[in-house]
Amino acid sequence: MPTEKRTADISGPFSGRYPATRLRRLRRTPALRRLVQESAWSAGNLVLPCFVKEGLAQPEPIPSMPGVVRHSLKSLASAAKEAQALGLGGVLLFGLPRRKDAQGRGADAADGIVQQGVRAIKRAAPGLAVMTDVCLCEYTDHGHCGILRGRSVANDATLKRLAAIAVSQARAGADLVAPSAMMDGQVRAIRRALDAAGFADTPIMAYAAKYCSAFYGPFREAAASAPAFGDRRGYQMSPANREEALREVALDIEEGADLVMVKPASAYLDVIRAVKERFHWPTACYQVSGEYAMLKAAAARGWVDEARATDELLTAMRRAGADLLITYSAVTVARRLSTTRTTGRQ
Ligand code: PBG
Repeated sequence: MPTEKRTADISGPFSGRYPATRLRRLRRTPALRRLVQESAWSAGNLVLPCFVKEGLAQPEPIPSMPGVVRHSLKSLASAAKEAQALGLGGVLLFGLPRRKDAQGRGADAADGIVQQGVRAIKRAAPGLAVMTDVCLCEYTDHGHCGILRGRSVANDATLKRLAAIAVSQARAGADLVAPSAMMDGQVRAIRRALDAAGFADTPIMAYAAKYCSAFYGPFREAAASAPAFGDRRGYQMSPANREEALREVALDIEEGADLVMVKPASAYLDVIRAVKERFHWPTACYQVSGEYAMLKAAAARGWVDEARATDELLTAMRRAGADLLITYSAVTVARRLSTTRTTGRQ
């Protein structure tokens, strides 16, 4: 094959050729670079995860997640006010109950900590979208995401619990519920329960492709939710699998998911891309605690520039196809956007 032909094939039928074409022309000034920028985000794409702990008088710092705290109800309300003022897409709420038990009863109590947290946010920032994590691991004394039968998590018994949790959160005023337990059929069970309880308009964001990841380490410290025995490989996905993620997403959409999520984010950009291309569905990704902790740790030593590295990672997630970026950096990034520019970019 002639060399000429091979070059043309690689660069595509519409590409030009040096010296008529010089790609550096559009990189010359900030204005020109901005003009041809493909991926960007604004505060409205960002969702801030928040922890609220029962019985706290003062917020408690989380050592492995600098800048993140376990909130008291009062500090949660002020965080929500700021999130609303910055125009964030929303907050995703996790509750840390005073007492844990085998059934995770704190999770769907009418006056449970998340239910109180939702009401506090709604009072302080009525215009802010409040999302709630639907799972049992923060509420069970064994730390697993469902109800145990012996030493394994019983899928179908867990569905009833998850459905009850989602309904109680909707009743407290949650704008959206986000099941993260990775039980089969959880979206269907929650959809049915919400509809039956009069919450047909409450959307579900499914943690559809949630991988069994080492990057959840700091979260488990923050929520004291590490499994007391074993691990989560029996319900969360293997990092090796991409096609299985597409099956998970297909099933969740069929069961009624309004948004689907890929989690973690940075190590799964190919999965985000595949999901977006295949389903054209609102897609979120979750930059999890360990991803955040790595960034903060390197930045603290001066090894990477925190702002630039954060922007670069969020840009990559948007470039991969995510609409919503769930990130512990949401407030820091949005503050910076509001003082310097209106969209994030490199
Ligand atoms: C609950 C849940 C977890 C995370 C979000 N929801 C923990 C887990 O699965 O162990 C992790 C979030 C993070 O690491 O930031 N099931």
